[in-house]
Amino acid sequence: MTAPGPSGDTPNAANAPPLADALRVAAAAWAAFRGGASLDRALAEAAPRSDPATPRLAAAAKDIAYTAVRHLALIEALLDRLAHRAPDPAVAALLAVAVGQLLAERHAPYAVVDQAVAAAHAGRGTRAASGFVNAVLRNALRRLPTLRPELEQQPAVAGNAPRWWIERLRAAEPEGFASILRLQRQPPPLVLRVNRRHGSVEDYLDRLQRDGLGATRVGPAAVWLHQPLPVLQIPGFAEGCVSVQDAGAQLAVQLLDPQPGMRVLDACAAPGGKTAQLAETAERLTIDAVDIDADRVVRIEDNLCRTRAREHASIRVLVADAAAPAWAPQRYQRILLDAPCTASGIVRRHPDIPWLRRPADVVQLATTQERLLDALWPLLEPAGRLLYVVCSVFGEEGPRQAERFVQRHADARAAASTGPGGLRLPPAQAVHWSGGLPSVHDGFYFAMFEKI
Ligand SMILES: C[S@@+](CC[C@H](N)C(=O)[O-])C[C@H]1O[C@@H](n2cnc3c(N)ncnc32)[C@H](O)[C@@H]1O
Repeated sequence: MTAPGPSGDTPNAANAPPLADALRVAAAAWAAFRGGASLDRALAEAAPRSDPATPRLAAAAKDIAYTAVRHLALIEALLDRLAHRAPDPAVAALLAVAVGQLLAERHAPYAVVDQAVAAAHAGRGTRAASGFVNAVLRNALRRLPTLRPELEQQPAVAGNAPRWWIERLRAAEPEGFASILRLQRQPPPLVLRVNRRHGSVEDYLDRLQRDGLGATRVGPAAVWLHQPLPVLQIPGFAEGCVSVQDAGAQLAVQLLDPQPGMRVLDACAAPGGKTAQLAETAERLTIDAVDIDADRVVRIEDNLCRTRAREHASIRVLVADAAAPAWAPQRYQRILLDAPCTASGIVRRHPDIPWLRRPADVVQLATTQERLLDALWPLLEPAGRLLYVVCSVFGEEGPRQAERFVQRHADARAAASTGPGGLRLPPAQAVHWSGGLPSVHDGFYFAMFEKI
């Protein structure tokens, strides 16, 4: 058995770093993550610097840590039963990532135990507990077959999320919440947007077939690449023929439907996925792409450059607060508000999200969205359209926000393209696309408002 990469791909086992080293780095990241850091930031800080083996070690540690987060509730419930005392955070972290590997069944179980014990020996903070690590993991091996099904009866374990998160999801999607939670425990699909300026979706699918890569069309311009690859190995990525973008996210610009020559505001634009898509969609657009985060704005420029978006549109990129639009010299015919949100619809891609958010964040983000909506509305021309999008499935950020917006603004009406209640797109993995809405996608909510 070999260790798949972060998205479920399988790197060359011969190149893989020793499992003990990867477990040690993953455990350091896990401890920081359980202390409140985002998993990606924790992983970036845990990987050793200036070592030639760092990229492979970092990739292996990332895979181990992501695998463990997808089983977090089960791992912590198991360790609660298996350890006769609460270990130090560093030891608990090593146990957590090792149990994650046992659950994933990618390596021989005794190899995981031996390597975890070796990792414990190698760390100053864990050395004294290596006998304990050995005992707990051997106990886990014996008891997993009975304990796992028993613990999976608990809703928090089955849903792998805190109780408040599950309740909020149940309130928003009373029918589908359990299958959404199940889907969100899977590694995410790698979905591409085909840049129609470089050729058709059919041409690109032919190219993938010639390269021996399995792929399925899952939306109007969306192709699901069955075998995840590093971006620079994706055929045509470097030349801008395709971009990595979920098929649900692609729907935003398709719904906005900008017409040639229009003035468009992309109000929360970084990292620029939709800004580049706008330039691919209609001729001669004038686009203002605004984001408050200067570091993320750098990535807008990278995306525009790679896709050669400026050959087709006049684009101004600004670091600014979209809720204080003194920077706007004009009114727009289309406004895209891809608002900051809880990201409850993209847990497949960021499985740490439910464990980092607090209930108060939902209220605070909904308030920010309201402020952005109200500040941007006066920038829209009469007969213009504003699309409010969130990658969330919570009602506070979707239907309830949209409902309150039309109540506050007498000159706003819900447009036909997303309907009176907006368009709810819970995450799905249906594979077969029969036209219309995409079949494989993350969770989103869209509401289009027209100015009367
Ligand atoms: C969902 S992301 C946007 C993704 C982007 N539209 C894309 O498709 O690549 C939300 C963005 O909103 C930005 N943001 C948050 N508050 C903002 C504000 N007050 N003004 C402008 N941008 C803001 C964040 O920095 C973040 O980049």
